[in-house]
Amino acid sequence: MHHEAGLLVTIVLGLVMAFAFGFVAARLRMPPLVGYLVAGIALGGSTPGPVADAGLASQLAEVGVILLMFGVGLHFSLDDLKAVRWIAVPGAIAQIVAATAIGALVALLWGWSFGGGLVFGLALSVASTVVLLKALEERNALEGANGRVAVGWLIVEDLAMVLALVMIPAFAGLLGGKVAEPVSGGGALLAGLITIVKVGAFLLLMLIAGPRLMPPMLRQVARLGSRELFTLAVLAAALGIAYLAATMFGVSFALGAFCAGMVLSKSEFSHKAATESLPLQDAFAVLFFVSVGMLFDPSVLWRDPLAVLLTLLIIVVGKSLVAMVIVLLLGYPAPTAAMVAASLAQIGEFSFILAALGIALGLMPVEGRDLILAGAILSIMLNPLAFLAIGPVSGWVTALPARFAGRARRQAKFARLERALEQRRAEAEALAPHRVSLSSEEVGDRFPIFGRLPPEARAELTDLFVPRRASPGERIIRRGDAAHEIFFIASGEVEVSLPNGSVRLKAGDFFGEMGVLSGNPRTADVTAIDYCEFEMLSRRDLLFFLDRHPELTAAISDVADRRTEMNQAGPLPAAS
Ligand code: CMP
Repeated sequence: MHHEAGLLVTIVLGLVMAFAFGFVAARLRMPPLVGYLVAGIALGGSTPGPVADAGLASQLAEVGVILLMFGVGLHFSLDDLKAVRWIAVPGAIAQIVAATAIGALVALLWGWSFGGGLVFGLALSVASTVVLLKALEERNALEGANGRVAVGWLIVEDLAMVLALVMIPAFAGLLGGKVAEPVSGGGALLAGLITIVKVGAFLLLMLIAGPRLMPPMLRQVARLGSRELFTLAVLAAALGIAYLAATMFGVSFALGAFCAGMVLSKSEFSHKAATESLPLQDAFAVLFFVSVGMLFDPSVLWRDPLAVLLTLLIIVVGKSLVAMVIVLLLGYPAPTAAMVAASLAQIGEFSFILAALGIALGLMPVEGRDLILAGAILSIMLNPLAFLAIGPVSGWVTALPARFAGRARRQAKFARLERALEQRRAEAEALAPHRVSLSSEEVGDRFPIFGRLPPEARAELTDLFVPRRASPGERIIRRGDAAHEIFFIASGEVEVSLPNGSVRLKAGDFFGEMGVLSGNPRTADVTAIDYCEFEMLSRRDLLFFLDRHPELTAAISDVADRRTEMNQAGPLPAAS
């Protein structure tokens, strides 16, 4: 009974405190992740106030890691990576090597073992996917070529870390760590070899059996029509495979879950699986960050401020400079280099996992974890500043003597990359099964604005519609951007944020009409506040369609005019 209470209290305290601190962080325009870590520190033993059970929290965190990695696998696309491989692969590898070397060197100077230095350096070399994706999304840079290079670069880093997580335990003995029984160099090599064979067997099983078993099983479940069972099936697959991987093949939970996600990413259910597992993934990922915070001993900040500063400098300055020089050496323009550098100027989840592993294997002193945590929290907090520096830094690099800058050549190379990305996207769209999501009756039923259209016109719309989904918090339209499409809300709710207040729009409503009709920039931010499904029409398709249906033009323009009037009339009534 006592134990159960402990679990409940840990979950409740963890989530409530994470929410409170996350909220404050978001209000201060910092990533909520900083708030989760601080919540963990508040719940840890080194600060006054409530103390949660660190052992239980770390087990819950393990579930968070599994779901996080499952999500990374689910979104991993080899095709995306292919277009940027000539910059992302060499860049990420060179940067990992350089940053690890700097970190390890500093650690060796502190008198740590080689293994400890290696883990420390690796932990400083890998940026946080969560932080990077949020930062790019926030700046609408995710779809641009620079953003895609940064994401590709990070995927390579993630893959390298997945490999490191598998290899480090196998070589722990050689690196001077704890092992069950002392082994010679040859023994360690054999152990490493066995690990590689086991990992290979697991990967082969996942590659061969996975795509044949998992999607058909999910299809069966989807046919039952129970959303709950589908979510359960996705979770069972993620957790079950991760557990199997760890117990039977000696592969890490993380790699197992990553593979499960990757296998599913190829199926038609990838999107559904991602949306259905997202809420749980979010909740457990939060507990993961809280548990990391709980382990942090803030006294390191005044016990060893120099070491903290050095760690922070390696992450924010050292790593970014290395990344920047590599991108410039590869012949790309300064803004790309500065964007990659800013994106990587932080560390996160993988660093924490590596630190935990390093300590468990006796490779790294506990002090290392405190430094890594301090470095992570501070670098995530400072990350918005790194993005602010992109403009000045790239201007400064571009102003260097022409021989260094080679502007024309760099621009040409960048243009080639943009073309390659465009081509990939076009290919992917051509390959994607054309989804007709609604029947023509449904179009009339769901969207009142189309209710009066003749059936042929509604059937035509079903062909033109492009489905899109969004999760709570996702920004769909950003004020000031160019308007390319109009959105019809099939399910869920969005919030329109205007300078004079906010308005909510529900299923059946539409938005984005103002910019599309006028050709002016977007007048408001529109953010999903629920899981949403939209049907989109591109500006070209809409105008083409309206040409032949003037009555609809009038109806949509009326709504746009009414909204404009409302926005000019003063403060909006509070959103219902
Ligand atoms: P657009 O300007 O293209 O992008 C932002 C959208 O927010 C805008 O089109 C409208 O669709 C929507 N919008 C703006 N003002 C209001 C309002 N007062 N009520 C509802 N929606 C609005």
